[in-house]
Amino acid sequence: MDKLDSQLIDRFGRKVTYVRMSITDRCDFRCVYCMDEEMTFMPRDQVLSLEEIVFILRAFCELGVEKVRVTGGEPLVRRNVDWLFEQIGELKQSTALKELTITTNGSQLTKYAESMVKSGVDRVNISLDSLQADRFRELTRTGDLNKVLKGITAAKQAGFKRIKLNAVIMKGRNDDEVIDLARFAIDNDLDISYIEEMPLGQVSHQRQESFFSSDEALAQLQTVFDLQASVAKTGGPSRYYQLAGSQSKIGFISPHTHNFCESCNRVRVTTEGRLLLCLGQEHSVDLRAVIRRYPDDIERLKQAIIDSMAIKPEGHDFNIKEQPVIFRHMSVTGG
Ligand code: GTP
Ligand code: 5AD
Ligand code: SF4
Repeated sequence: MDKLDSQLIDRFGRKVTYVRMSITDRCDFRCVYCMDEEMTFMPRDQVLSLEEIVFILRAFCELGVEKVRVTGGEPLVRRNVDWLFEQIGELKQSTALKELTITTNGSQLTKYAESMVKSGVDRVNISLDSLQADRFRELTRTGDLNKVLKGITAAKQAGFKRIKLNAVIMKGRNDDEVIDLARFAIDNDLDISYIEEMPLGQVSHQRQESFFSSDEALAQLQTVFDLQASVAKTGGPSRYYQLAGSQSKIGFISPHTHNFCESCNRVRVTTEGRLLLCLGQEHSVDLRAVIRRYPDDIERLKQAIIDSMAIKPEGHDFNIKEQPVIFRHMSVTGG
């Protein structure tokens, strides 16, 4: 298979080179901004099998996709996930795939970090919203900070190319930890992104009351650190700053205050095989229906993916002040 330039180009001329694949909507945490206290998860027969996931990713990577990010829910709670990483890692030999990454809450990293690196997982993003154990428990409802810190250490030892922390900052909940989290990242030679809360799914607080903008986080950081103006864009939603005298990059993901849709390079596949063309819209194609009707017919699947480019929307219209227009929770798409 030739390493082709991506054949996936939408109506706005944006090239899709990046797929975010959610492999489970389940999670061992219940982060307050992501899930409701009581969640109903997808019945297992509706969830893609691991073989189906590999088949779909193969189709994307044969169409020129260069980067795959495995997400959840929490991807590392899925059974046999190590087999999945091996299979996706092998696509680097035969397709356009260059980079395999994962976003995790870190709770299972002591178990999987080493085998992930062996299978070809290049980078890992780990959610970390607080360094205070009580508060960490409140924000995640079930999480154990110590376990995650051990997971971060395991990831460092395993030798990933780069590790990034993700911190969703909420007013009155953890906005006093912006600087502490940056210090932790710097001391451990990690990158960090501060994320504005997005209105995906109903949760138990009013999101407009907890909204904390990236600009406020940046202003806090600038009182302490020497941040150099944004470094090269990574093609993702983060705007990154380099910290003088350190390897660490500090990023901001700000869908509300700095829209980045015009340079969008990504699509998502949900746990049940829905190809979602935008995180903030409902336009989608049911890939599971295609592969269950025509098993093993990769050309038909590829055509369905190519055709989907015609319905990729120009962008999201998130508005934190209104009730969510998107009813699916973040755990269905993995962000
Ligand atoms: P890369 O782009 O792969 O470098 O990583 P990332 O930081 O985008 O990925 P990660 O999974 O760590 O997600 C961090 C945050 O970015 C999550 O809250 C995601 O929901 C958000 N995010 C990722 N892609 C998009 C996007 O296209 N639109 C919006 N609004 N948010 C996104
Ligand atoms: N808004 C912003 N970020 C969110 N995440 C989960 N739910 C939300 C939300 N409603 C983040 C997690 C994780 C990433 C995949 O998405 O903290 O880092
Ligand atoms: Fe789980 Fe991640 Fe959602 Fe937290 S944000 S509940 S860790 S899927």
